[in-house]
Parts: sequence; C-alpha cells; structure tokens
Amino acid sequence: MKILGVYNIKGGVGKTATAVNIAHRASLDGLRTLIWDLDPQAAATFYLRVKPKVKGSKKIIKGKRELDDVVKGSDYPGLDLLPSDFAYRNMDLLLGEQKKPAVQLLRLLRPLSREYDLILLDCPPSISLVSENIFRAADALLLPTIPTTLSLRTMEQLLDFMQGHKLRTPVYAFYSMVDRRKRMHQDVIATPGDPRCTVLDTVIPYATEVERMGLERRPVTDYAPRSAAGRAYDALWKEIRSQLSGLRPVPRVDLPF
Ligand SMILES: Nc1ncnc2c1ncn2[C@@H]1O[C@H](COP(=O)(O)OP(=O)(O)OP(=O)(O)O)[C@@H](O)[C@H]1O
Ligand SMILES: [Mg+2]
Repeated sequence: MKILGVYNIKGGVGKTATAVNIAHRASLDGLRTLIWDLDPQAAATFYLRVKPKVKGSKKIIKGKRELDDVVKGSDYPGLDLLPSDFAYRNMDLLLGEQKKPAVQLLRLLRPLSREYDLILLDCPPSISLVSENIFRAADALLLPTIPTTLSLRTMEQLLDFMQGHKLRTPVYAFYSMVDRRKRMHQDVIATPGDPRCTVLDTVIPYATEVERMGLERRPVTDYAPRSAAGRAYDALWKEIRSQLSGLRPVPRVDLPF
C-alpha cells in the first residue's frame, strides 16, 4: 500500500480536484483505492456524492474507533471514501492530546494496508499538526502548484519546514490551473524548480471541465476523459504510477458464474 498526501499550504490550488481524479483513475487501473477527506470543508466527500459526517469521528482520531468502520463506497468499483466531518476543524487539538501526536494518522492508517493499494489524503490548506501528521504518514506528497512567483515561495516554505523537521517524504510538485496565455505561467514553468522536490512533466490546464465537477459531482476522468483536463489527469496518474514503485494492481479473478 502507498499513501499519497495531496497537499499545499495554499488554498484553492486544485488539491481536491487532483485527489478525486487521481483516485478515480487509479481505481480504473484496478487498484483498491481510498480517499480520506481530511478537510472539514468536505469537498471530496461532496464530489463523490457521499454524505459528510462520520459518527464518532472524534473517537476515530483518538484511535478509539477503527477507520474501516466508517469507510463508504462510492459509485465506482474499487474506489472508497472516508468522509470528512465538521469536527475535523478541531483535528489539531484532538491530535495534540495523543501520546505521539505527530504520527497518530499513520497509526490509524496502518490497519488499512491489507485492504487498499493506494490511499490519497485530501488535505486542508495550512501548515499545522495535521500537516505534520500527513507528511509522516505519506509515502510521497503530491503538490499542485499554480505557476506564480508567490506559489513558488510557498513551495519553498514547505520544503524548508520539511528540511527543518528532518522529514524526508519525497515531494512531487506539478503545475495546476495553468493558463498558457499568461506570461508569468510560462516563465515560472520554464524556470528550474527547487532541487529538493521533483517537478513532474504533466501540467493541468485551467479548464471549465474541472470547474464542472461541482455540478456533475463526478470525477472529470469519468464525465470528460477525452477533454484536455481529463487527458492531463490521465497523464498525471501515469507519471505518479511510474514514480511510486510497488503500485501494482491486484489481479482480478474472473469467476465463471
Ligand atoms: N484545472 C482547473 N481548472 C479550472 N478550475 C479548477 C481547476 N482545478 C480546480 N479548479 C476549481 O478551483 C476551485 C478550487 O479547486 P480545489 O477545491 O480542487 O482546490 P483545493 O486546493 O482543494 O482548495 P482548498 O484549499 O479550499 O481545499 C474549485 O472551484 C475547482 O472547481
Ligand atoms: Mg480541497
């Protein structure tokens, strides 16, 4: 099992769109995939048509209730969701009460390793104890970045934080919401990235098909797989898959009845 944290300190950069599309795309490859919606805004939960609110979510964070008790299926075979809960707004406090606060999420996720090949964490924007938990739980971070000078500074802040905390989780950045007509976007993309992270080749364009996710409540890779955005998420998934070794689908057995 691999755990991928979709993270950025900044809000509104395409984290949730990435988590939902990549998870859907991974499930199409036969990977048993789970998204954990860690954001109290519950956008991933909404996109996948699941009701937010997990009974006893405080107990879950405290480790007094198993995560797999609250996993919900989605409309897609092989794609499950751990819904968000408004109580997650206090997750920092809840984690802070635990014995080893920085590794609590990893502890909670471990028992799921038998059931899933890939877990995507859809993270809230901010840098907090929740984020540190995500950095420690994830095998890699996926960092959607809008190509502006300010975003690059935020990326450096993150990499400084990780270096300062001796966190060696690999960071895969990619440019998201890209408008090729904008000079600044072109310039930033052409500039070599921070050597402490890998900048993936795939670029996600700014596209109305992605905005439509809110109306469709489905992944773009489902309702518009051949659109520019659908193809870009497909390419992004293939790049991630080739970077993360050990991501192999479990062979599906065709039953003769
Ligand atoms: N490639 C894109 N093209 C156009 N619109 C996009 C794109 N990606 C995301 N959006 C839109 O931008 C908004 C923010 O996207 P999203 O919710 O995925 O970002 P986020 O980083 O998860 O935000 P938050 O930090 O609030 O969780 C949404 O309305 C979404 O539809
Ligand atoms: Mg989000």
